[in-house]
Amino acid sequence: MSSINKDKVPQHVAIIMDGNGRWAKQQGEDRIFGHHEGVNSVREIVEAAAEAGVKYLTLYAFSTENWNRPKDEVDALMELLVATISIETPQLHKNKVKLEAIGNLKSLPPACLNELQESINTTKNNTGLILVLALSYSSKWEITNSVKEIAAQVAEGKLKPNDITEETISSLLCTTKYPDPELMIRTSGEHRISNFLLWQLAYAEFYFTDKLWPDFRKDDFYEAIRSYQLRERRFGKTSEQISQQTK
Ligand code: IPE
Ligand code: IPE
Ligand code: MG
Repeated sequence: MSSINKDKVPQHVAIIMDGNGRWAKQQGEDRIFGHHEGVNSVREIVEAAAEAGVKYLTLYAFSTENWNRPKDEVDALMELLVATISIETPQLHKNKVKLEAIGNLKSLPPACLNELQESINTTKNNTGLILVLALSYSSKWEITNSVKEIAAQVAEGKLKPNDITEETISSLLCTTKYPDPELMIRTSGEHRISNFLLWQLAYAEFYFTDKLWPDFRKDDFYEAIRSYQLRERRFGKTSEQISQQTK
C-alpha cells in the first residue's frame, strides 16, 4: 500500500477473477472448492480497493458463457452466490460499500435474484466503494440490447440516425452510471477479455498475472495499481504532448 501514489489511483478497476478451478485441481480438490476459496479473495480485494481509494470496483463473477458449464457447477455457483451475499452484506454495509449488479439478472434463479436485490436495497444509500457484480453478463449481449433500443427509437421517430453519438451508445449500456475502468486485471495467466466490457475497456490499461484468483490478495492488488501508475496513458497523443500537459 505504501508504494501507491494516492493522487493517481484509478477511479474504476475491473477484474476478471479467473483460475478457481485450476487452483482447486492443484490441491487435489473439486472445482467448487476453488470457487469457495475465491470468496476470500473477493473479500480482501474489496477491502483493498476501498483502502486504496478506488471508487468503483467491477468484478466479473459469472459470464453468459458460464451457463454452458456442467449443471452441478452452475448450481453450486448460484448457491454460493446466495450464501455469500447473505453472509457478507452486513460487513459490506458497515464498511459503507454500495452493491450494484450488471448483466442479464432476470436469468438468475429467483433465490439468487432476491438475495441480490435485498443486498442492493440495504446498501443503496452507502457512500463508500461502489461494488459492481457482473452476473450473467456478456458485453456482446449488452451491446446487442443497446442496438435494439436504438433501432426501436429510430423506428418510432424519436431518434435520427445522424444524431447517434458515442454517448447515445454509452447511455444505453448497463454501465451508463459508471466511468470507464482505467485498469482491468485478469488473474490465472489467460490473456483475453472473454466478452467483458468490450466498449468500456477501449482505453483501459490491462494487467495480467499468473496468480490464480484464490491466491490473489491485497498485495497483488496494490502491485497491479503500482504497475498502472508507472504507465503513460497517451490516448493517441505523443509522449511529448503528454509530458507538456503535465508540466
Ligand atoms: C473463475 O474461475 C470463476 C468463474 C468463471 C465463475 P474458473 O472456474 O474459470 O477457473 P479455471 O479457469 O477453470 O481455472
Ligand atoms: C471469465 O472466465 C468469466 C469470469 C471470470 C466470470 P472464464 O474462465 O469463463 O473464461 P474463458 O472461458 O476461459 O475465456
Ligand atoms: Mg476460467
